[in-house]
Amino acid sequence: ETGAITMDPGYKNSGSCKSEITFLDGEEGILRYRGYSIEDLAEKSNFLEVSYLLIFGELPKAAELEKFETDIRKYTLVNEEMKNIIDGFPKNAHPMGVLASLTSALTAFNPKSVNVANEKDMYEAVCKTMGKFLVIATWTYRKNMGFPLNYYDNTKGYVENFMRLMFELPTGPYKNNPVVINALDKLFILHADHEQNCSTSTVRMVGSSHAGLFASISAGVSALWGPLHGGANQAVLEMLEEIQANGGDADKYLAKAKDKEDPFRLMGFGHRVYKNFDPRAKIIKKAADEVLATLGVDDPILTIAKKLEESALQDEYFKSRNLYPNVDFYSGIIYRALGIPTEMFTVLFAIGRLPGWIAQWKEMRINKEPIGRPRQIYTGAPLRPFVNAENR
Ligand code: SDX
Repeated sequence: ETGAITMDPGYKNSGSCKSEITFLDGEEGILRYRGYSIEDLAEKSNFLEVSYLLIFGELPKAAELEKFETDIRKYTLVNEEMKNIIDGFPKNAHPMGVLASLTSALTAFNPKSVNVANEKDMYEAVCKTMGKFLVIATWTYRKNMGFPLNYYDNTKGYVENFMRLMFELPTGPYKNNPVVINALDKLFILHADHEQNCSTSTVRMVGSSHAGLFASISAGVSALWGPLHGGANQAVLEMLEEIQANGGDADKYLAKAKDKEDPFRLMGFGHRVYKNFDPRAKIIKKAADEVLATLGVDDPILTIAKKLEESALQDEYFKSRNLYPNVDFYSGIIYRALGIPTEMFTVLFAIGRLPGWIAQWKEMRINKEPIGRPRQIYTGAPLRPFVNAENR
């Protein structure tokens, strides 16, 4: 119930850890941030408030949340010289690769390392990371499109700024749609943390050597990029578009996913921990219906996704392996309806996951955890004498 994982008696920090941040129950499909259910937070909270909860451990009072947003705004300007770095990338560079590089480059422009023991330093690093990461994340899209890079508008909200930074053109102001803002805010909440997943464990591991916060977050971005992890949301859309292009036969792809000779896996299905429905997938599926209906979007891809889900949930292969839709299965459908380009889907996952990465890095450092050093089971050659080249 406490969510603590038994420490590996063999070695200190061999990969499993204790944390107070997020509780998962894979069998029951339960997800809680600091004890609050994901259903409650998705329904009643907002992304900056949930970010504060994850990072500082408590839901903020109204004045604390207002101060948090004000303090983030102090750091939303990104050093102009960072543009020289982004200009070095080819136009078609994948946004996640650009984001990982720009995030690490932030260290060059903010060299002061984080003194986690000093609350003021830690708080400043949190606000700086929340402010600058959002801006550089959208720069990856602007670069891709050949558009001028936008600046954060401190008179507007955090999620509202994301859409402006992405889509506002010199030809005129971007008109935000509250339905889009609410949907994105909810999606960011649902992605905000998820215990010791691949990218979060990477952030903790890199941070355990006392590498800086930006360097650790940059490593997390790279881990999230993989199609088995955060890159799955892009892979789901590409899979659904391929099904659509091939006549919409979802069952053919289900058969492919079961064919042991074929490395194809049904993207958006299965999970290392959830052996039941991913609670986030349920919320996102409901949000997808609401957002598409409100925006008047009739997307055949959503129909294909629902058909695929229905077939998989009845299929013995999938049922016997507890393969259910995960957080990535429906998120891309909403992003697409909001006008977000497919290659930016995993960048949005990173924006949502940022407060979780920060919270986990902060916890690991404040707890003075030792440097990560997983051990191994050696299966190589036994001791043997050296043989000169002429005798090999
Ligand atoms: C995320 O860890 C987190 O919390 C991650 C995340 C987060 O918030 O940080 O939740 C975000 O990464 C969600 C997962 C997104 N990835 C995908 O949707 C990619 C497709 N899913 C799979 O690659 C897979 O399900 C994993 C990687 C997610 C989980 O793999 P597991 O638990 O290691 O499962 P496995 O590889 O041991 O497979 C068990 C069986 C195998 O068959 P058998 O060998 O028993 O015959 O299930 C099969 C697998 O072949 N299987 C699948 C499948 N996933 C597992 N078969 C078809 N399609 C799939 N998607």
